[in-house]
Amino acid sequence: MSSGRSYVKTKAGDGETARKALLEAKLLDTEYKIVDEYQDLYFPLSGKASKAKLKKILAGIDFETGKREFVTAHIGPKTLSDALEGILPPELFEHLPRAYDLIGDIAVLELPDELADFGREIASAFQSVHKNFSTVLGKRGAITGTTRVRQYDLLAGQRKTRTIHTEYGCRIAVDVAKAYFSPRLLEEHNRVANLVMDGETVVDMFTGVGPFALHIARRHSARVYAIDINADAIDLLRESIELNRLIGEVIPILGDAHDYVQSSFDADVDRVIMNHPTGAFEFVGDACKALREDGVLHYYDFAGGEDPESSVQEKIEDLVRESGREVQSVDVIRRVRDSAPYEYQMVVDLVIR
Ligand SMILES: C[S@@+](CC[C@H](N)C(=O)[O-])C[C@H]1O[C@@H](n2cnc3c(N)ncnc32)[C@H](O)[C@@H]1O
Repeated sequence: MSSGRSYVKTKAGDGETARKALLEAKLLDTEYKIVDEYQDLYFPLSGKASKAKLKKILAGIDFETGKREFVTAHIGPKTLSDALEGILPPELFEHLPRAYDLIGDIAVLELPDELADFGREIASAFQSVHKNFSTVLGKRGAITGTTRVRQYDLLAGQRKTRTIHTEYGCRIAVDVAKAYFSPRLLEEHNRVANLVMDGETVVDMFTGVGPFALHIARRHSARVYAIDINADAIDLLRESIELNRLIGEVIPILGDAHDYVQSSFDADVDRVIMNHPTGAFEFVGDACKALREDGVLHYYDFAGGEDPESSVQEKIEDLVRESGREVQSVDVIRRVRDSAPYEYQMVVDLVIR
């Protein structure tokens, strides 16, 4: 008797019909690769089937049976497109998102209108490729309101919006439905935290769930006042303070940045972080009141057009002047990320005199 696994052999031209028929009859052993040899295909079989039964299943297709060796197949699809083969109409593949937001064990997909009817199929295909994600959410609408949150649809997996996200070893409690967080700011959080020196007093005026503050206090013996108007964001920050071994100190403050900064600081702060790109411009006077001579300001805004660097620089220099202070130097102007077609989230690092 020959060794190996049972197979069905067909001509390559009948291959796709035979594969589908065997798959449907649950006879195709998908743990092994189909062999393509000299215009013939060999299908590994998972169970016993008589010639008569195979004849019925493969209606009209010429075939032979026998035994041979097969190599193991990769289990499960490798890409989202592979996983959606036969599920998504071919003309829709070009609309599949190329990037996702991966936040802890939650994946967030942004599906264009063309894919709106296939959200659940795409999400379960996503989970079959990326097995570590327990929840797949779909973005619903834009980020809005003072607290900068958006709504989500559950597309697959566990119904939850809370998770623990890790950036450069820093553990951050996140609830995507309750407080702003973007994993795309990872490099910016890291960059700013690396600029801080031991002993600094830092004010993070719009801290959200506190990624800048946490990164700084994990690396430096600095004191960070982390302010946000969203109570959920401050609760999540308190949780993260417990999750990390901090060298410095994070002081979570629930309140309005204008009120808190005006009443608490007077030219005694080394560094102010203003990451609230839609609203920071209204608080530059407060930051200027807080900053000491030669203090550093990290100012964030959205800018587009031909030269977003120049337009954001002009804007912040005017705002600083209007607040009665001067810009000593502009050390960095950077595009942090795309925020819309032809628009960027910009950062400017300035020293204020
Ligand atoms: C873009 S998000 C924060 C991003 C955060 N710095 C980060 O890197 O993840 C802007 C934050 O500003 C907060 N905010 C808006 N107006 C505020 C105000 N007047 N005072 C304090 N926080 C405010 C919002 O609640 C929101 O969490």
